[in-house]
Amino acid sequence: KQINTFHNVPNTDWILKANQNWIQEVKNRWSKPTSIFGEVVKVVGVAEKNRETISQIGWNGEQPWKYELADAEDYKKALEGTSTWYTLTNEQRINILRQAAVEIENCRGDLIGVAVTELGKMVTEVDVEVSEAIDFANYYAYSVEQMINEGIEPVPGGISLVLSPWNFPVAIPCGGVLASLAAGKRVILKPSQNAAATAYLMCNCLWKAGIPKDALLFLPAQESNLDEFLTNGNVFDAVILTGGTDTAKFLLNRNPRLNLYAETGGKNSTIVTSLSDKEQAIKNVVNSAFGNTGQKCSATSLLILEKEVFENKSFKKLLKDAVESRIVGNPWNFETQVGPLAVPVSDKLKKSIETTPKEQWMVEPKLEGDFMLSPGVKWGVTPSDFEYQNELFGPVLSVMKANNLEEAVKTANGVEYGLTSGLESLDQKEIEYWLNNLMAGNLYVNRGTTGAIVQRQPFGGMKASCFGFGMKAGGPNYVLQFVKVNEDVIMK
Ligand code: ALA
Repeated sequence: KQINTFHNVPNTDWILKANQNWIQEVKNRWSKPTSIFGEVVKVVGVAEKNRETISQIGWNGEQPWKYELADAEDYKKALEGTSTWYTLTNEQRINILRQAAVEIENCRGDLIGVAVTELGKMVTEVDVEVSEAIDFANYYAYSVEQMINEGIEPVPGGISLVLSPWNFPVAIPCGGVLASLAAGKRVILKPSQNAAATAYLMCNCLWKAGIPKDALLFLPAQESNLDEFLTNGNVFDAVILTGGTDTAKFLLNRNPRLNLYAETGGKNSTIVTSLSDKEQAIKNVVNSAFGNTGQKCSATSLLILEKEVFENKSFKKLLKDAVESRIVGNPWNFETQVGPLAVPVSDKLKKSIETTPKEQWMVEPKLEGDFMLSPGVKWGVTPSDFEYQNELFGPVLSVMKANNLEEAVKTANGVEYGLTSGLESLDQKEIEYWLNNLMAGNLYVNRGTTGAIVQRQPFGGMKASCFGFGMKAGGPNYVLQFVKVNEDVIMK
């Protein structure tokens, strides 16, 4: 059977005046955030009742919403439920997923608006993840079509739990939710409490597309309320976590039988050899280190320079200038290149800032209040330094020296994590050596380490960046790993 092909959707072209005007309208609309969906972000999918609410102070010192929290009873009710989602044909589910892509595109402006408001994420950065969310919808629909074409017919049933983070508040919850739904499952989304409003608006697009509310339940909650469901056996057919390595370790230590699919932290390196294009290398590294204010699991946080590059004064000056010229500011403004932190500055970031001798900063990070942190570059970091193993999740780049590529690879592989990695080199032999020896899930040559594109660059790690099961998100087997198939089909 002829199946639809898959295409990535384009990001917004910000050069066009019409698009700049459009985002200005979005900004105006979001100057009153509660006018869009009320003052309380409510749980969805279980009966209404009085619930605990919380509020968070965001990057601009405001608390736009209250967030309702689901309790253990709500989770119990959700688990006992069922949905018409199970009774649809795979073709009907595929059509709804494709409609979800349309609804997300129609809501692009408001998804940008809510994420800027809630998390201080820059307009251009949210725009990219809205495109990724659309790609997930189309690609996972396409994945099911391909499966069916190959004789694998997903049998509906089961339920997933998606535990999503705040740094990609649209794309990551969307990806886990849609993959579960594509596999014929119901799904509970428990977003990060810092990003619940954005996750809610994303879900709203999916409900609009025809996904029933009893198939996609939106249940923000305190983690402790989930304990009884995650401690023993497998209440959920899949627990899809994107979050901290400590969280994944904790969940698996407590319950080794948990069906966990976890993508966790990174301590990602980019190696620059003497055979690289230096200007291109600096551009890629600076974008990868400071994009989204360094709050990407895929960010470059270790820059490992081959001796000749490390000692090259003009390289050092170019890097310093590139970092110092980054414009730090309001996430709504186009000239801004580094926005605020989404959450108050962490203890790890503070420790790095406070314990580094002043003279070791090539560019010293400056903290204003709890949220505004300008980019920092620490020069001459060694494996015994705090920054080598610790994921800071902020705009601090550590520069290390290696005598040759072999030593650089050893240093890069010496970290606990293995998520992304970059090589800047124009030499084929070096590229091959690096590709054969570097231990990380996503390897990028002469390209930054962030911004994986659905289908072209399936995303996922190894070592301490991946726990439990885990095919790469946005890749060919991602939906398949959640699919139940009829045994008759397997026998054939
Ligand atoms: N998928 C995200 C990236 O590649 C995390 O940057």
